[in-house]
Amino acid sequence: TRTPVSKLLLFGATGDLAQRMLLPSLYGLHADHLLPEGLTITGTARSEHDDASYREFAKAALDEFLPEDRKDANAVQSFLERIGYQALDATDIAHYQDLAAKVGDVAGGLAIFLSTAPSLFEPVIKGLDSAGLAGPTVRIGLEKPLGYDLESSRTINDTVATAFPEERTFRIDHYLGKETVQNILALRFGNSFFEPVWNARGIDNVQITIAETVGLEDRAGYYETAGALRDMVTNHMLQLLALVAMEPPARFDGTAIRDEKAKVFRSLRQMRSEDVPNLTVTGQYGEGAVSGEIVKSYADELGKPSTTETFVAIKAHVDNWRWQGVPFYLRTGKRMATRRSEIAIQFKPVPHSMFAGRGGTLQPNVLVIRLQPEEYVQLLVMAKEPGLDRDGIRLREVPLNLSMDSAFAGSRRRIAYERLLLDLIEGDPTLFVRRDEVEAQWEWTDAIRAGWEAGAVKPKSYPSGSWGPSAAVALSERDGVTWQDD
Ligand code: BG6
Repeated sequence: TRTPVSKLLLFGATGDLAQRMLLPSLYGLHADHLLPEGLTITGTARSEHDDASYREFAKAALDEFLPEDRKDANAVQSFLERIGYQALDATDIAHYQDLAAKVGDVAGGLAIFLSTAPSLFEPVIKGLDSAGLAGPTVRIGLEKPLGYDLESSRTINDTVATAFPEERTFRIDHYLGKETVQNILALRFGNSFFEPVWNARGIDNVQITIAETVGLEDRAGYYETAGALRDMVTNHMLQLLALVAMEPPARFDGTAIRDEKAKVFRSLRQMRSEDVPNLTVTGQYGEGAVSGEIVKSYADELGKPSTTETFVAIKAHVDNWRWQGVPFYLRTGKRMATRRSEIAIQFKPVPHSMFAGRGGTLQPNVLVIRLQPEEYVQLLVMAKEPGLDRDGIRLREVPLNLSMDSAFAGSRRRIAYERLLLDLIEGDPTLFVRRDEVEAQWEWTDAIRAGWEAGAVKPKSYPSGSWGPSAAVALSERDGVTWQDD
Protein backbone atom coordinates (compact mmCIF):
# COMPACT_ATOMS: atom_id res chain seq x y z
CA THR A 1 0.00 0.00 0.00
CA ARG A 2 1.28 3.39 -0.95
CA THR A 3 1.19 6.14 1.64
CA PRO A 4 2.04 9.48 0.02
CA VAL A 5 3.68 12.15 2.13
CA SER A 6 2.74 15.81 1.96
CA LYS A 7 6.25 17.24 2.18
CA LEU A 8 9.60 16.65 0.55
CA LEU A 9 12.93 17.85 1.92
CA LEU A 10 15.80 17.91 -0.52
CA PHE A 11 19.35 17.98 0.81
CA GLY A 12 22.01 19.12 -1.65
CA ALA A 13 19.40 21.31 -3.31
CA THR A 14 21.97 23.44 -5.14
CA GLY A 15 24.14 20.52 -6.23
CA ASP A 16 24.76 18.99 -9.59
CA LEU A 17 22.38 16.05 -9.05
CA ALA A 18 19.59 18.40 -8.01
CA GLN A 19 20.02 20.56 -11.09
CA ARG A 20 20.42 17.82 -13.66
CA MET A 21 18.15 15.14 -12.29
CA LEU A 22 16.09 15.88 -9.19
CA LEU A 23 14.48 19.18 -10.12
CA PRO A 24 13.72 18.08 -13.71
CA SER A 25 12.30 14.78 -12.38
CA LEU A 26 10.10 16.47 -9.79
CA TYR A 27 8.93 18.88 -12.44
CA GLY A 28 8.13 15.94 -14.75
CA LEU A 29 6.02 14.33 -12.04
CA HIS A 30 4.34 17.64 -11.29
CA ALA A 31 3.57 18.36 -14.95
CA ASP A 32 1.99 14.92 -15.29
CA HIS A 33 -0.09 15.43 -12.13
CA LEU A 34 1.62 12.56 -10.35
CA LEU A 35 2.74 14.42 -7.23
CA PRO A 36 0.36 14.44 -4.28
CA GLU A 37 -1.76 17.54 -4.43
CA GLY A 38 -0.34 20.17 -2.10
CA LEU A 39 3.05 18.48 -1.77
CA THR A 40 5.58 21.13 -0.78
CA ILE A 41 9.27 20.88 -1.50
CA THR A 42 11.91 22.42 0.75
CA GLY A 43 15.41 22.63 -0.62
CA THR A 44 18.36 22.87 1.71
CA ALA A 45 22.09 23.31 1.22
CA ARG A 46 24.91 25.44 2.52
CA SER A 47 24.40 28.29 0.04
CA GLU A 48 22.49 31.37 1.11
CA HIS A 49 19.18 31.63 -0.71
CA ASP A 50 15.72 32.74 0.19
CA ASP A 51 12.62 31.16 -1.34
CA ALA A 52 12.56 33.61 -4.23
CA SER A 53 16.20 33.29 -5.18
CA TYR A 54 16.10 29.52 -4.91
CA ARG A 55 13.08 29.43 -7.19
CA GLU A 56 15.13 31.42 -9.70
CA PHE A 57 17.89 28.89 -9.28
CA ALA A 58 15.47 26.01 -9.84
CA LYS A 59 13.97 27.72 -12.86
CA ALA A 60 17.43 28.14 -14.38
CA ALA A 61 18.10 24.44 -13.84
CA LEU A 62 14.85 23.51 -15.58
CA ASP A 63 15.67 25.86 -18.45
CA GLU A 64 18.99 24.19 -18.89
CA PHE A 65 18.14 20.54 -18.35
CA LEU A 66 14.56 20.00 -19.48
CA PRO A 67 14.01 18.89 -23.05
CA GLU A 68 12.37 21.69 -25.05
CA ASP A 69 9.12 19.80 -25.57
CA ARG A 70 8.66 19.40 -21.82
CA LYS A 71 8.86 23.09 -21.01
CA ASP A 72 5.46 24.49 -20.24
CA ALA A 73 5.51 27.95 -18.69
CA ASN A 74 2.36 27.39 -16.62
CA ALA A 75 3.51 24.06 -15.30
CA VAL A 76 6.93 25.52 -14.46
CA GLN A 77 5.28 28.35 -12.59
CA SER A 78 2.96 26.13 -10.56
CA PHE A 79 5.86 23.78 -9.88
CA LEU A 80 8.03 26.59 -8.53
CA GLU A 81 5.22 27.62 -6.21
CA ARG A 82 5.65 24.33 -4.38
CA ILE A 83 9.28 25.13 -3.56
CA GLY A 84 10.92 26.86 -0.59
CA TYR A 85 14.47 26.97 0.72
CA GLN A 86 16.39 26.95 3.98
CA ALA A 87 20.16 27.41 4.21
CA LEU A 88 21.88 24.90 6.47
CA ASP A 89 25.30 24.22 7.87
CA ALA A 90 24.90 20.46 8.07
CA THR A 91 27.51 20.14 10.80
CA ASP A 92 25.85 22.63 13.16
CA ILE A 93 23.16 20.91 15.17
CA ALA A 94 21.50 24.21 16.11
CA HIS A 95 20.67 24.86 12.45
CA TYR A 96 18.29 21.93 12.28
CA GLN A 97 15.78 23.78 14.44
CA ASP A 98 15.48 26.43 11.72
CA LEU A 99 15.16 23.71 9.13
CA ALA A 100 12.39 22.03 11.12
CA ALA A 101 10.62 25.36 11.52
CA LYS A 102 10.78 25.90 7.78
CA VAL A 103 9.48 22.41 7.00
CA GLY A 104 6.70 22.76 9.55
CA ASP A 105 4.32 20.06 10.70
CA VAL A 106 5.29 16.59 9.50
CA ALA A 107 2.15 14.79 10.66
CA GLY A 108 1.06 14.43 7.02
CA GLY A 109 4.31 12.70 6.19
CA LEU A 110 7.75 13.87 5.12
CA ALA A 111 10.14 12.30 2.62
CA ILE A 112 13.79 13.34 2.83
CA PHE A 113 16.21 12.95 -0.04
CA LEU A 114 19.78 12.87 1.19
CA SER A 115 22.76 12.92 -1.06
CA THR A 116 25.84 13.81 0.88
CA ALA A 117 29.48 12.98 1.41
CA PRO A 118 29.87 9.89 3.64
CA SER A 119 31.41 12.08 6.35
CA LEU A 120 28.20 14.10 6.75
CA PHE A 121 25.83 11.22 7.42
CA GLU A 122 26.37 11.30 11.14
CA PRO A 123 25.80 15.03 11.75
CA VAL A 124 22.84 15.11 9.38
CA ILE A 125 21.08 12.13 10.94
CA LYS A 126 21.71 13.46 14.44
CA GLY A 127 20.54 16.91 13.41
CA LEU A 128 17.35 15.59 11.84
CA ASP A 129 16.63 13.46 14.87
CA SER A 130 17.27 16.29 17.33
CA ALA A 131 14.88 18.58 15.46
CA GLY A 132 12.01 16.09 15.27
CA LEU A 133 12.57 15.36 11.59
CA ALA A 134 12.96 11.61 12.01
CA GLY A 135 9.68 10.52 13.57
CA PRO A 136 7.38 7.71 12.39
CA THR A 137 5.87 9.83 9.60
CA VAL A 138 9.27 10.55 8.08
CA ARG A 139 11.11 8.39 5.53
CA ILE A 140 14.58 8.97 4.15
CA GLY A 141 16.08 8.33 0.72
CA LEU A 142 19.85 7.87 0.65
CA GLU A 143 21.95 8.49 -2.43
CA LYS A 144 25.32 6.81 -2.96
CA PRO A 145 28.13 6.75 -2.01
CA LEU A 146 27.01 4.84 1.05
CA GLY A 147 30.54 4.46 2.33
CA TYR A 148 33.70 3.32 0.61
CA ASP A 149 33.97 -0.20 2.00
CA LEU A 150 31.98 -2.65 4.10
CA GLU A 151 33.06 -1.16 7.38
CA SER A 152 32.23 2.45 6.54
CA SER A 153 28.97 1.36 4.95
CA ARG A 154 28.04 -0.48 8.15
CA THR A 155 28.84 2.63 10.15
CA ILE A 156 26.58 4.70 7.92
CA ASN A 157 23.81 2.12 8.07
CA ASP A 158 24.12 1.95 11.86
CA THR A 159 24.00 5.74 12.10
CA VAL A 160 20.92 5.95 9.90
CA ALA A 161 19.30 3.13 11.87
CA THR A 162 19.54 5.11 15.11
CA ALA A 163 16.86 7.42 13.71
CA PHE A 164 15.22 5.57 10.80
CA PRO A 165 14.25 1.90 10.94
CA GLU A 166 14.92 -0.13 7.80
CA GLU A 167 11.32 0.14 6.53
CA ARG A 168 11.66 3.92 6.43
CA THR A 169 15.12 3.86 4.81
CA PHE A 170 15.19 3.98 1.00
CA ARG A 171 18.65 3.40 -0.50
CA ILE A 172 18.84 4.66 -4.04
CA ASP A 173 20.52 2.94 -6.95
CA HIS A 174 19.37 4.98 -9.88
CA TYR A 175 19.87 2.07 -12.27
CA LEU A 176 16.82 0.44 -10.71
CA GLY A 177 14.78 3.43 -11.82
CA LYS A 178 15.59 2.83 -15.49
CA GLU A 179 12.80 1.37 -17.61
CA THR A 180 15.02 -1.14 -19.35
CA VAL A 181 16.39 -2.37 -16.06
CA GLN A 182 12.87 -3.09 -14.81
CA ASN A 183 12.26 -4.65 -18.19
CA ILE A 184 14.67 -7.45 -17.28
CA LEU A 185 12.03 -8.57 -14.79
CA ALA A 186 9.28 -8.27 -17.38
CA LEU A 187 11.26 -10.24 -19.93
CA ARG A 188 12.29 -13.03 -17.59
CA PHE A 189 9.15 -13.45 -15.56
CA GLY A 190 6.43 -12.26 -17.91
CA ASN A 191 7.35 -14.75 -20.63
CA SER A 192 7.55 -18.50 -20.46
CA PHE A 193 10.21 -19.30 -23.00
CA PHE A 194 13.31 -17.76 -21.42
CA GLU A 195 13.21 -19.40 -18.01
CA PRO A 196 13.67 -23.05 -19.11
CA VAL A 197 17.01 -22.17 -20.74
CA TRP A 198 17.98 -19.47 -18.20
CA ASN A 199 20.60 -21.54 -16.40
CA ALA A 200 23.93 -23.29 -16.76
CA ARG A 201 22.45 -25.82 -19.22
CA GLY A 202 21.22 -23.15 -21.59
CA ILE A 203 23.60 -20.24 -21.02
CA ASP A 204 27.29 -20.18 -21.79
CA ASN A 205 28.18 -16.79 -20.31
CA VAL A 206 26.75 -13.43 -19.32
CA GLN A 207 28.41 -10.11 -20.16
CA ILE A 208 27.50 -6.81 -18.55
CA THR A 209 28.99 -3.63 -19.96
CA ILE A 210 28.57 -0.05 -18.80
CA ALA A 211 30.78 2.02 -21.05
CA GLU A 212 30.84 5.79 -20.73
CA THR A 213 32.50 8.41 -22.90
CA VAL A 214 32.67 11.04 -20.15
CA GLY A 215 35.82 11.46 -18.09
CA LEU A 216 36.29 12.92 -14.66
CA GLU A 217 33.71 15.70 -15.19
CA ASP A 218 33.76 18.02 -12.16
CA ARG A 219 34.02 15.27 -9.64
CA ALA A 220 37.73 14.90 -8.99
CA GLY A 221 37.33 15.04 -5.22
CA TYR A 222 34.85 12.20 -5.13
CA TYR A 223 36.06 10.06 -8.01
CA GLU A 224 39.68 10.00 -6.94
CA THR A 225 38.66 8.35 -3.67
CA ALA A 226 36.18 6.01 -5.36
CA GLY A 227 37.39 4.60 -8.66
CA ALA A 228 35.39 2.47 -11.07
CA LEU A 229 34.96 -0.51 -8.75
CA ARG A 230 33.25 1.46 -5.99
CA ASP A 231 31.56 3.92 -8.30
CA MET A 232 29.90 1.43 -10.65
CA VAL A 233 30.41 -2.21 -9.66
CA THR A 234 29.43 -2.23 -5.98
CA ASN A 235 26.05 -0.83 -6.92
CA HIS A 236 24.81 -0.57 -10.52
CA MET A 237 26.62 -3.52 -12.05
CA LEU A 238 25.89 -5.90 -9.22
CA GLN A 239 22.23 -4.88 -9.28
CA LEU A 240 22.10 -5.73 -12.98
CA LEU A 241 23.83 -9.02 -12.29
CA ALA A 242 21.32 -9.84 -9.57
CA LEU A 243 18.32 -9.13 -11.80
CA VAL A 244 19.74 -11.48 -14.42
CA ALA A 245 20.74 -14.20 -11.98
CA MET A 246 17.98 -14.22 -9.36
CA GLU A 247 15.39 -16.93 -8.86
CA PRO A 248 11.81 -16.03 -9.78
CA PRO A 249 10.33 -13.99 -6.92
CA ALA A 250 6.82 -15.02 -5.87
CA ARG A 251 5.45 -11.50 -6.00
CA PHE A 252 6.40 -8.12 -7.38
CA ASP A 253 7.02 -6.55 -4.02
CA GLY A 254 9.88 -5.21 -1.99
CA THR A 255 10.29 -8.24 0.21
CA ALA A 256 10.16 -10.96 -2.44
CA ILE A 257 12.34 -9.17 -4.99
CA ARG A 258 14.95 -8.02 -2.52
CA ASP A 259 15.10 -11.44 -0.85
CA GLU A 260 15.98 -13.00 -4.20
CA LYS A 261 18.56 -10.34 -5.08
CA ALA A 262 20.16 -10.68 -1.66
CA LYS A 263 20.50 -14.44 -2.21
CA VAL A 264 22.41 -13.77 -5.42
CA PHE A 265 24.80 -11.41 -3.64
CA ARG A 266 25.39 -14.02 -0.98
CA SER A 267 26.09 -16.59 -3.71
CA LEU A 268 28.76 -14.51 -5.43
CA ARG A 269 32.01 -16.41 -5.26
CA GLN A 270 34.27 -14.45 -2.91
CA MET A 271 37.65 -13.92 -4.54
CA ARG A 272 40.79 -15.01 -2.79
CA SER A 273 43.51 -12.36 -2.94
CA GLU A 274 45.81 -14.61 -4.97
CA ASP A 275 43.09 -15.11 -7.63
CA VAL A 276 42.21 -11.44 -8.00
CA PRO A 277 44.97 -10.58 -10.53
CA ASN A 278 43.69 -13.36 -12.83
CA LEU A 279 40.02 -12.54 -12.46
CA THR A 280 40.14 -8.76 -12.77
CA VAL A 281 41.68 -6.10 -14.99
CA THR A 282 41.99 -2.45 -14.05
CA GLY A 283 42.79 0.49 -16.23
CA GLN A 284 43.13 4.24 -16.25
CA TYR A 285 42.50 6.33 -19.32
CA GLY A 286 45.39 8.02 -21.08
CA GLU A 287 45.05 10.65 -23.76
CA GLY A 288 43.14 9.82 -26.87
CA ALA A 289 40.13 10.81 -28.90
CA VAL A 290 36.50 10.30 -27.99
CA SER A 291 33.84 11.00 -30.61
CA GLY A 292 36.39 12.85 -32.70
CA GLU A 293 37.63 15.08 -29.89
CA ILE A 294 41.10 14.98 -28.42
CA VAL A 295 40.89 14.46 -24.68
CA LYS A 296 43.37 14.57 -21.82
CA SER A 297 44.52 11.67 -19.72
CA TYR A 298 43.01 11.09 -16.29
CA ALA A 299 46.20 12.24 -14.59
CA ASP A 300 46.25 15.45 -16.65
CA GLU A 301 42.62 16.16 -15.84
CA LEU A 302 43.37 15.53 -12.20
CA GLY A 303 46.59 17.52 -12.27
CA LYS A 304 48.70 14.81 -10.66
CA PRO A 305 49.58 11.14 -11.09
CA SER A 306 47.10 8.73 -9.57
CA THR A 307 46.49 5.02 -9.15
CA THR A 308 42.70 5.30 -9.21
CA GLU A 309 41.12 2.94 -11.73
CA THR A 310 38.74 4.39 -14.31
CA PHE A 311 38.12 0.99 -15.87
CA VAL A 312 37.54 -2.42 -14.41
CA ALA A 313 36.74 -5.81 -15.90
CA ILE A 314 35.86 -8.76 -13.72
CA LYS A 315 35.12 -12.43 -14.21
CA ALA A 316 32.58 -13.37 -11.57
CA HIS A 317 30.74 -16.53 -10.60
CA VAL A 318 27.45 -17.12 -8.88
CA ASP A 319 27.86 -20.28 -6.87
CA ASN A 320 24.48 -21.94 -6.86
CA TRP A 321 22.76 -24.72 -8.81
CA ARG A 322 21.40 -22.53 -11.54
CA TRP A 323 24.68 -20.86 -12.45
CA GLN A 324 27.33 -23.45 -11.78
CA GLY A 325 30.22 -22.91 -14.20
CA VAL A 326 28.71 -19.88 -15.97
CA PRO A 327 31.07 -16.90 -16.00
CA PHE A 328 29.64 -13.41 -15.57
CA TYR A 329 31.98 -10.92 -17.24
CA LEU A 330 31.57 -7.36 -16.05
CA ARG A 331 33.28 -4.30 -17.48
CA THR A 332 32.84 -0.61 -16.99
CA GLY A 333 34.94 2.39 -17.80
CA LYS A 334 35.15 6.09 -18.46
CA ARG A 335 36.35 7.55 -21.77
CA MET A 336 35.48 4.43 -23.70
CA ALA A 337 34.84 4.19 -27.43
CA THR A 338 31.10 4.79 -27.17
CA ARG A 339 28.47 5.21 -24.48
CA ARG A 340 26.79 1.88 -24.12
CA SER A 341 25.17 -0.04 -21.29
CA GLU A 342 24.05 -3.52 -22.10
CA ILE A 343 23.65 -7.05 -20.91
CA ALA A 344 24.52 -9.79 -23.38
CA ILE A 345 23.45 -13.31 -22.55
CA GLN A 346 25.20 -15.83 -24.71
CA PHE A 347 23.52 -19.20 -25.05
CA LYS A 348 25.19 -22.58 -25.50
CA PRO A 349 25.95 -23.65 -29.05
CA VAL A 350 23.72 -26.25 -30.70
CA PRO A 351 24.80 -29.75 -29.64
CA HIS A 352 25.37 -30.84 -33.26
CA SER A 353 25.49 -28.81 -36.44
CA MET A 354 24.02 -30.47 -39.50
CA PHE A 355 25.34 -27.56 -41.52
CA ALA A 356 28.99 -28.30 -40.86
CA GLY A 357 30.92 -27.74 -44.06
CA ARG A 358 27.73 -26.84 -45.90
CA GLY A 359 26.71 -23.33 -45.07
CA GLY A 360 29.09 -21.77 -42.69
CA THR A 361 29.66 -21.59 -38.98
CA LEU A 362 26.87 -21.32 -36.49
CA GLN A 363 27.07 -18.47 -34.02
CA PRO A 364 25.59 -19.10 -30.60
CA ASN A 365 22.37 -17.22 -29.86
CA VAL A 366 22.77 -14.04 -27.88
CA LEU A 367 20.11 -12.07 -26.07
CA VAL A 368 21.18 -8.44 -25.96
CA ILE A 369 19.42 -6.11 -23.54
CA ARG A 370 20.53 -2.60 -24.44
CA LEU A 371 19.88 -0.15 -21.64
CA GLN A 372 21.36 2.96 -23.21
CA PRO A 373 21.75 5.05 -25.22
CA GLU A 374 19.12 3.13 -27.20
CA GLU A 375 16.60 0.90 -25.49
CA TYR A 376 16.04 -2.43 -27.13
CA VAL A 377 16.09 -6.17 -26.72
CA GLN A 378 17.58 -8.23 -29.50
CA LEU A 379 17.80 -11.96 -29.87
CA LEU A 380 20.53 -12.87 -32.30
CA VAL A 381 19.49 -15.95 -34.26
CA MET A 382 20.83 -17.88 -37.23
CA ALA A 383 18.71 -17.58 -40.37
CA LYS A 384 19.02 -18.69 -43.95
CA GLU A 385 20.40 -16.16 -46.35
CA PRO A 386 18.17 -15.91 -49.38
CA GLY A 387 19.72 -17.58 -52.41
CA LEU A 388 20.07 -20.77 -54.41
CA ASP A 389 23.35 -22.10 -53.08
CA ARG A 390 24.01 -25.54 -54.46
CA ASP A 391 26.25 -26.77 -51.69
CA GLY A 392 23.79 -26.42 -48.80
CA ILE A 393 22.14 -23.39 -47.32
CA ARG A 394 23.99 -20.35 -46.17
CA LEU A 395 23.28 -19.12 -42.67
CA ARG A 396 23.76 -15.72 -41.17
CA GLU A 397 23.24 -14.21 -37.75
CA VAL A 398 20.36 -11.73 -37.71
CA PRO A 399 18.57 -9.94 -34.87
CA LEU A 400 15.00 -10.46 -33.78
CA ASN A 401 14.42 -6.94 -32.66
CA LEU A 402 12.27 -5.39 -29.96
CA SER A 403 12.89 -1.68 -30.05
CA MET A 404 11.24 0.09 -27.14
CA ASP A 405 10.88 3.30 -29.12
CA SER A 406 8.84 1.69 -31.84
CA ALA A 407 6.97 -0.85 -29.70
CA PHE A 408 5.90 1.88 -27.29
CA ALA A 409 5.83 4.83 -29.64
CA GLY A 410 4.43 7.93 -28.01
CA SER A 411 5.49 7.03 -24.50
CA ARG A 412 7.89 9.49 -22.96
CA ARG A 413 11.32 8.40 -21.88
CA ARG A 414 11.53 9.31 -18.23
CA ILE A 415 14.50 10.10 -16.05
CA ALA A 416 15.24 7.19 -13.70
CA TYR A 417 14.79 9.55 -10.75
CA GLU A 418 11.17 10.23 -11.67
CA ARG A 419 10.31 6.64 -10.82
CA LEU A 420 12.44 6.63 -7.68
CA LEU A 421 11.30 10.00 -6.33
CA LEU A 422 7.68 9.01 -6.87
CA ASP A 423 8.24 5.71 -5.06
CA LEU A 424 10.01 7.53 -2.22
CA ILE A 425 7.17 10.05 -1.93
CA GLU A 426 4.58 7.27 -1.98
CA GLY A 427 6.57 4.83 0.13
CA ASP A 428 7.06 1.86 -2.20
CA PRO A 429 10.41 0.21 -1.34
CA THR A 430 10.53 -2.34 -4.19
CA LEU A 431 13.12 -0.51 -6.29
CA PHE A 432 15.32 0.52 -3.37
CA VAL A 433 18.29 -1.36 -2.00
CA ARG A 434 18.02 -3.11 1.34
CA ARG A 435 20.79 -3.02 3.92
CA ASP A 436 21.71 -6.69 3.52
CA GLU A 437 22.11 -6.18 -0.23
CA VAL A 438 24.41 -3.19 0.14
CA GLU A 439 26.59 -4.91 2.70
CA ALA A 440 26.90 -8.09 0.64
CA GLN A 441 27.87 -5.96 -2.36
CA TRP A 442 30.61 -4.26 -0.37
CA GLU A 443 31.87 -7.51 1.03
CA TRP A 444 32.39 -8.88 -2.45
CA THR A 445 34.08 -5.80 -3.89
CA ASP A 446 36.22 -5.31 -0.77
CA ALA A 447 37.78 -8.72 -1.43
CA ILE A 448 38.72 -7.56 -4.92
CA ARG A 449 40.26 -4.39 -3.60
CA ALA A 450 42.16 -6.38 -0.99
CA GLY A 451 43.54 -8.57 -3.80
CA TRP A 452 44.71 -5.50 -5.71
CA GLU A 453 46.46 -4.23 -2.63
CA ALA A 454 48.05 -7.57 -1.78
CA GLY A 455 49.24 -8.05 -5.35
CA ALA A 456 50.26 -4.40 -5.75
CA VAL A 457 48.03 -4.29 -8.85
CA LYS A 458 48.15 -0.90 -10.59
CA PRO A 459 45.75 0.15 -13.34
CA LYS A 460 47.04 -0.25 -16.89
CA SER A 461 46.86 2.78 -19.11
CA TYR A 462 44.40 2.61 -22.02
CA PRO A 463 43.87 5.19 -24.72
CA SER A 464 40.74 7.31 -24.32
CA GLY A 465 38.27 6.21 -26.96
CA SER A 466 39.20 2.52 -26.76
CA TRP A 467 37.52 -0.47 -25.12
CA GLY A 468 39.95 -0.46 -22.19
CA PRO A 469 43.27 -2.25 -21.68
CA SER A 470 43.89 -5.22 -23.97
CA ALA A 471 44.10 -7.40 -20.88
CA ALA A 472 40.31 -6.99 -20.62
CA VAL A 473 39.96 -8.70 -23.99
CA ALA A 474 42.29 -11.44 -22.82
CA LEU A 475 40.23 -11.93 -19.65
CA SER A 476 37.37 -13.45 -21.62
CA GLU A 477 39.35 -14.72 -24.64
CA ARG A 478 41.22 -17.05 -22.31
CA ASP A 479 37.90 -18.82 -21.88
CA GLY A 480 37.17 -18.68 -25.59
CA VAL A 481 34.64 -15.91 -25.08
CA THR A 482 34.62 -12.70 -27.12
CA TRP A 483 33.04 -9.54 -25.72
CA GLN A 484 29.83 -8.79 -27.52
CA ASP A 485 30.41 -5.79 -29.74
CA ASP A 486 28.48 -4.26 -32.59
C1 BG6 B 1 26.79 7.28 -11.22
C2 BG6 B 1 28.29 7.34 -11.17
O1 BG6 B 1 26.30 6.53 -10.15
O2 BG6 B 1 26.37 6.70 -12.45
C3 BG6 B 1 28.83 8.09 -12.36
O3 BG6 B 1 28.71 7.95 -9.98
C4 BG6 B 1 28.29 7.55 -13.64
O4 BG6 B 1 30.25 8.05 -12.37
C5 BG6 B 1 26.77 7.42 -13.59
O5 BG6 B 1 28.65 8.42 -14.70
C6 BG6 B 1 26.24 6.70 -14.81
O6 BG6 B 1 24.84 6.79 -14.82
P1 BG6 B 1 24.04 6.73 -16.18
O7 BG6 B 1 22.61 6.75 -15.76
O8 BG6 B 1 24.45 7.92 -16.98
O9 BG6 B 1 24.44 5.45 -16.85
